[in-house]
Amino acid sequence: MPNTTKGGGPVASEHTPLKARKVSFAWEETPLHWVPGDPFTTHTINVLHLLLPAGERWFVHVYQQVLPYIRDEKLREDVIGFIGQEAMHAQAHDEVLPHLREQGLDPTPYTAQVDWMFEKMLGDRTLPPGRARRWWLMERVALIAAIEHYTAFLGDWVLNAERLDAAGADPTMLDLLRWHGAEEVEHRSVAFDLFQHVDGGYRRRARTWATAFGALLFLWQRGVRFFMENDPTLLEGKGSLTEFYRKGRAGMLPSTPAILKSVPTYLHRGYHPSQEGSTAQAVAYLASSPAALAAEAATAPDAPKDAR
Ligand SMILES: [Fe+2]
Ligand SMILES: [Fe+2]
Repeated sequence: MPNTTKGGGPVASEHTPLKARKVSFAWEETPLHWVPGDPFTTHTINVLHLLLPAGERWFVHVYQQVLPYIRDEKLREDVIGFIGQEAMHAQAHDEVLPHLREQGLDPTPYTAQVDWMFEKMLGDRTLPPGRARRWWLMERVALIAAIEHYTAFLGDWVLNAERLDAAGADPTMLDLLRWHGAEEVEHRSVAFDLFQHVDGGYRRRARTWATAFGALLFLWQRGVRFFMENDPTLLEGKGSLTEFYRKGRAGMLPSTPAILKSVPTYLHRGYHPSQEGSTAQAVAYLASSPAALAAEAATAPDAPKDAR
């Protein structure tokens, strides 16, 4: 549901205090093709389970280094809340991987490459303290802001993807995606606000957007191909851009025009993430998500000890 307040700058009413919700999901009942009869949609969305654990742990690693540069208490609280949420997201997606292995789809060859990319290529590097080290830290903070533009975009999409419900998608997987998507919408301004606070340069914003967008497209198409080729139930598993376009038109995946439209949105000088998506919708989902409710009950002060 797009926010109707367009224009320059943040939308104050979209801000909400952030807390990490400790969730857990039971995967035993989830079939390999959790969108029934639609391996392409299933695997396109499954790529999230391969990219997010390493990516979100990297966010946490970078943000822990940037905390000393924050001179605004409210922003510091937001960043700490963001770190807590992203750490939980990484763990929740990681827990899907053993289930994929049990179903004959071992993602290790792909995740090993993703891990290398985040840990080595985008890691700390051996830089002397001073300008070079700060430059590399700011570059990564800007990259995270660009990536978070897309996690918020995907979060907003999945919260509204009624066609997945209509197609009979597995409720546990939908809950994982929507719980995560809702928290992405909830904290969508933090990475951008942090980047603006510590650097905010437009050229850096544009440059890192190009890197993030290119890398996401590259990793995503490789991930879909990996899943389609290694799916033990598919004789000739293939995916194509045409199929992606078609599924987007049908509302099963984000639509290509919406993805293209997200480009000028992020590059607009008056852009702020609070202008897109709806915090009210995200918070409403989190108040009804089975996993988030179970987490809430388990951490309530009067919950039995073994449930915490
Ligand atoms: Fe996340
Ligand atoms: Fe996020």
